[in-house]
Amino acid sequence: MKAKPSAIISLRGWHPAIARAEAKSMFSNSIIQRTDSRRLLIAEGESDWEKSQIMSGCECVLIDGGITKWKSLDDLLSLISPSRKESMAIECWRHEGKIDVATRDIERHVGGLFHDEGSTFDLENPEHRFGIILDNSAGYVAWGWMIGQGPGKHGWSAMRANKRPFFRPVSLEPRLARAAVNIAAGTNDGFVIDPMCGTGGILIESALSGRETLGIDFDPVMVDGCQQNIDWAEVDARVVRGDATRVDFPSNVAAVVVDPPYGRNSPSDEKLIQDMLSNVLRQSKDSNLVVILPVEAGEDDLDEEITTDIELPGYDIETAFGIPVHKSLGRVMIIAKASIQD
Ligand SMILES: C[S@@+](CC[C@H](N)C(=O)[O-])C[C@H]1O[C@@H](n2cnc3c(N)ncnc32)[C@H](O)[C@@H]1O
Repeated sequence: MKAKPSAIISLRGWHPAIARAEAKSMFSNSIIQRTDSRRLLIAEGESDWEKSQIMSGCECVLIDGGITKWKSLDDLLSLISPSRKESMAIECWRHEGKIDVATRDIERHVGGLFHDEGSTFDLENPEHRFGIILDNSAGYVAWGWMIGQGPGKHGWSAMRANKRPFFRPVSLEPRLARAAVNIAAGTNDGFVIDPMCGTGGILIESALSGRETLGIDFDPVMVDGCQQNIDWAEVDARVVRGDATRVDFPSNVAAVVVDPPYGRNSPSDEKLIQDMLSNVLRQSKDSNLVVILPVEAGEDDLDEEITTDIELPGYDIETAFGIPVHKSLGRVMIIAKASIQD
């Protein structure tokens, strides 16, 4: 591993495997590699790191920094190259348990290095934040200038689906919906479409992340409730009543993200999904597809992709992830591309 990669990507703890897929889509100009830490990736080549601000699973990106095995505070201080910055702060935090050093001590000593260069500090509202992550899962320390929110500052909890005016138990968790949209649409231009949008969980995350967004639902109660949620979230998304198996899409579709009704061994649900997918294929073969389906709760591995026997007619499954919801319910997120026809 190179000690000074172009960037170090720090993931949130919820679902590192999904967060890795999200990072690959959103930072597609870079080569992203795993480290033996669950939550630290290294990237070579520049991407628009500001995209970390709209990502579900990315805590922050560290640039102009480095990563190494933790040895001692003195070793860390010898590796950091301080420079002069106006209005900066140092933030040190932990991943996955405790490396035996106080974060306060690290902040104080690293702060001293920058102070000696003539930097000024503003702990309330800094223009530049220098982050140091102590990662106990693999004994690493990573450091650099932070782009993105950082640890524990994510608004997802304030944005829970049950806070919206129209909630149904089927409503997707925002962090899952946001990750699905980012994985599917990446940095591509064009519409994100959810042809079975329900209460609008996917639409809201798509629009909040700045994408052209269109939702369709068959049920007028859902369309009305979804519109209420869109208005409440004050986002620019459109929802219309229609049938996912025949509705016409706009010409520029970046991605289809959908969470259809699905019961294992329900032929009518399978037929509905099949017809919906052939309508998608008819109009937008090149767009990326992410499908989220309810399944029985399993022994999900949140660090790795899973295999699934679910089939999506007309599509090749590239990756699938298992997501625990509660004791008896799980979800599977499937990333797929249209099969190439001979
Ligand atoms: C599992 S829910 C989607 C939940 C949604 N992701 C959310 O966050 O609220 C599936 C939705 O598919 C809709 N639906 C079922 N058949 C449909 C069809 N033929 N065309 C469009 N929507 C359909 C249902 O009305 C329901 O709202």
